[in-house]
Amino acid sequence: MAEIGTDIQKAAQLLKTGKLVAIPTETVYGLAGNAFNEDTVIRIFEAKDRPQFDPLIVHSSSTQWIKEHVSEIPPLAQKLMNDFCPGPLTLVLPKKTIIPDIVTSGLDSVAVRVPSHPMTQELLKLLDFPLAAPSANPFGYVSPTTAKHVNDQLGDKIDYILDGGPTTVGLESTIIGFEDGKAIVYRLGGLSIDVIEDSIGKVEVALNQSSDPKAPGMLKSHYSPGKPLYFGNPGQLISDFEGKRIGFLGFMTPLEFLPPDRQLLLSPHGDLQEAAINLFAFLRQMETFPVDVILAEELPDIGLGKAINDRLRRAATITKT
Ligand code: TXA
Ligand code: MG
Repeated sequence: MAEIGTDIQKAAQLLKTGKLVAIPTETVYGLAGNAFNEDTVIRIFEAKDRPQFDPLIVHSSSTQWIKEHVSEIPPLAQKLMNDFCPGPLTLVLPKKTIIPDIVTSGLDSVAVRVPSHPMTQELLKLLDFPLAAPSANPFGYVSPTTAKHVNDQLGDKIDYILDGGPTTVGLESTIIGFEDGKAIVYRLGGLSIDVIEDSIGKVEVALNQSSDPKAPGMLKSHYSPGKPLYFGNPGQLISDFEGKRIGFLGFMTPLEFLPPDRQLLLSPHGDLQEAAINLFAFLRQMETFPVDVILAEELPDIGLGKAINDRLRRAATITKT
């Protein structure tokens, strides 16, 4: 198991010697290493068992630093950076050669982000290099929102876990790229589309659902909670599972005919932000329930509900909405 602590200096020293450190961000915990050190970056892929065709996000302390790593910032990207950095937003921009190809899986673009978590902000300011950091979970599994989640799964592969408490957003960052002067959302996440559109006007959403290893970005099957998960309308799903032990991950209202100790509600008073914070921890908890299948209810398709539904759809074996 890894050492868990709050020693930012220690985390910085380890990172300076090429070691891996799990870091808190406002979205999810990241598995961080020096983005300029190719050996370290390779060890990030290995620790996660992540294929090297799936590129990493580069984290910096300020948008000023981002300018060192990208060759162009289109006006829409600049506006988004002004409005939402630091925060749960990642921008895909043309890369400078200082970013090693291994970080971007050979793409000529790099995903950049300024996390707002105060501990990670302080850590980044102690370093003269940016941090490459994917979510700190084994490839294809649910992202970690606490230090314990990281330790449970990757504890024997990393040198230190910087504990910044439970994350306050709970979903990974929203990823946006720019094509022909237009902003395209590649991944729904902690910054909702309506908030983005208030800043830069209408955006296109082109979620990459491909299972083609050559395609960058989101792979189709992801966020697996380790038990069969069925997503959609509980009334329609339930008929398929007679005789099976069912766990229910609902939004506000429990299912009357199931034992209460096999149900978790993401937000009993219907707050989508609270639901986002609880989502990944509850998926992990459901895995430990004495149930055969997890039924996950579709949330209202508005605001953060869109990103939550996206994660549940990716976690699902079967969808019936
Ligand atoms: O909130 C987050 O974004 C967290 C925290 C730790 O920052 N990180 C995170 O990283 O979710 P990861 O590696 O789990 O997801 C990054 C996604 C991947 O789907 C990857 O394919 C995509 O970003 N990505 C990275 N570079 C890209 C690029 N140049 N073009 C398109 N997609 C890219
Ligand atoms: Mg991830």
